Order: sequence, then structure tokens, then C-alpha cells
Amino acid sequence: LDNGLAKTPPMGWNSWNKFGCKGLNEKVVRETADTMVSSGMKDAGYQFVILDDCWQTGRDASGNIIADAERFPSGIKALADYVHSKGLKFGIYTDAGAMTCAKRPGSIGHEYQDAKQYANWGVDYLKEDWCSTLPGQNSESSYTVMRNALADSGRPIVFSICEWGSTKPWLWAGPIGNLWRSTGDIQDCWDCKKDWGGNGVTQIIDQMSGLETYAGPGHWNDPDMLEVGNGGLTKEESRAHFSMWAMFSAPLLAGNDISNMTPDTKEILLNKEVIAIDQDPLGHQARRVKKTGDLEIWSKQLQDGGRAVALLNRSPAAAKIAVAWTDLGYPDSVSASVRNLWTVSDLGKQSGSYSADVPSHGVVMLTIKP
Ligand code: GLA
Repeated sequence: LDNGLAKTPPMGWNSWNKFGCKGLNEKVVRETADTMVSSGMKDAGYQFVILDDCWQTGRDASGNIIADAERFPSGIKALADYVHSKGLKFGIYTDAGAMTCAKRPGSIGHEYQDAKQYANWGVDYLKEDWCSTLPGQNSESSYTVMRNALADSGRPIVFSICEWGSTKPWLWAGPIGNLWRSTGDIQDCWDCKKDWGGNGVTQIIDQMSGLETYAGPGHWNDPDMLEVGNGGLTKEESRAHFSMWAMFSAPLLAGNDISNMTPDTKEILLNKEVIAIDQDPLGHQARRVKKTGDLEIWSKQLQDGGRAVALLNRSPAAAKIAVAWTDLGYPDSVSASVRNLWTVSDLGKQSGSYSADVPSHGVVMLTIKP
């Protein structure tokens, strides 16, 4: 969406993955804002503090949306002010149908009224979900209504479309949203293919492949929020998850309790070199340039002409993966500087190829610069 926002993928925190409906309240949100500053996350680029579903209860007689007074006794405006006072930005959630996925009031028929309200509260980011829509409701036109309402609200608001990839938003959402979910909800597991179509990290990675050309500054594919720190992934898996999201130029929205992070979780979410790959101004999404069974090579073109490369091992055993310069579009003869972004070390000039031992369910993430 050409609204001047999200020129690089949005970074921040969203309440859903960890706190869901029951755990959301203003105390959690305030503590999260505090920690975003004190943990160094703000300095590392995390910016948005986003309330997901369950902040709202109903509408008043004039149709104005009402916040849940039990969970948000100080009101949404006060919370937004608090978040802003920390130098951060504030986000909120609604739905394009009659009810949200947790059966709170949705925005259908109230788009302009809600957008005005959000603007008055100081909202900087809106996620709009796709539950309880009417039979045959058209996603493109519904999200266009909210886009127009936000534009009319007088406040710059990042617009996040969430219809789970169900109507191929990458084909139509570029001029409508700043980002759109490309998959169903992420699950806190590495490979959780279930009969009902679970979306573990690897299932989402596969669904992102092929969508590269649709992403760019102001309009991103969104493989969903991070599960780093929520307990279902090992350290290697968490690193691989975070690395791949950075390779995808995905929004980096922490989905854990950042006020209670282990040192490993913190180290992953705060890896500045990996974050810099996500935030590369060229805004390319990585492609899978090679796949040999469970061993994959992903390459992302960077603005400086170099490549970010992820050597991804999806197999149950450690393995060697070799990337050839020709996999990256460079001539064999070129000499290139290689840097490992997790060991944070230069590996010197290499020519033709580079090979590394990659742990099971892990990644070696590199920059390769001729
Ligand atoms: C849907 C969305 C999730 C979350 C929940 C809230 O499942 O895809 O990201 O917002 O609704 O109910």
C-alpha cells in the first residue's frame, strides 16, 4: 500500500501467540512496552505494541466500539499514550466480518466510524481479521473499504490484512494493505503437519516459497507472528525460524512474553545482524535456490549487491550443506567475503563455494559479498 508506511517490514510485538484471549489486559501491555525498551528490543528496531483479539466488548448506542472495561480499566487512549510515551507505536485488531475470531464485535458496516476512533486513540497499526464474514463476502472489496476508511481518518496507520492467504491476497492486496497473511495461523512447533493442516515453521516456509515477487517496500507477505520463546521449539529451531522470517522480509512481531525471556530467546530476538537482513531496504524476499531432500539453500538479494544465504537443514541429523556461487547468481571465479551471522564472525574471502556443518532442524545464516 502506497501510504508511505512500512517501507521495511514492521517490527514489534503482538499479544496473540502467548496471551491469546484470556491473558490480554492493560498490565501485560504496559509491562511489554516497558520491557521492549529495557531489554534493548526498541534499540534493535522493535517498534509496535499490538493488541490482538479480545480488547473489545460491544458497541454503545451510537455504534462506537467499546473496550473491555475489566481488562482495560484505563481505556485504550490511555494505553496508547503510555506506549507512545516510551517512544513506541501502538497497534490494535479488528475483523472484516460481524464478529472477530473470538466472537467480539467486528467492523463490518462500522469501518469509517472505527477508523476515526482508532485515529482519535492514537492507533498506528491495524490488523483486520476475516472471521464471521457474510456468505460470499469479497475480501478485496472489504479490505478496500477499511483501507479507504484509514486513509480518511487523518492518521498514518499501517494496515495488516489477515485472511490467512485464503483468497491469494498477494494477487490483489499490494495496493490495499501494507502486509497480508500468506498462511493460516502459525503453531508453536517445527513440523506439525496435522490432518487439519497444522502450520508449523516448516509448513509455513514451504507456503512462502513462490510468493517472492509479491513482496517489496510497503507491501509484504506475512508468514505470521513469531513463536520464538513460547516453548515449542528448540534453540536451533528457534534460530532457524527467526532466520527464515528475516530471509523472507517478514514482519518480525515477537509473540512471546518478552517480560520473561530466557537468555537464548533474548539472544535470538536481538541478533542485530539477522534483523538487518530482514530490514534490508531493497525489500526482497528470499528464494529457495536449491533443495536436496531435507537440505535447502535460500538466497536473498541485498541492497549492497551481496546475498544473505540460509543453509537450512530440515532433517533429523546434522548435515553438510555447500552453497556454490553459481547458486547465488555469481560467477564461479569470483572471490567473496563470507560472514556467519549467528557466530558473528568473518570467515574470510572464499572462492566458488562455501560449505558448513548445519545442525538438525537448524540453519547456518551467512552474508556472501563479492
Ligand atoms: C485468527 C488470526 C490470528 C488471531 C486470532 C484472534 O485466527 O489469524 O492471528 O488474530 O484470529 O482470534
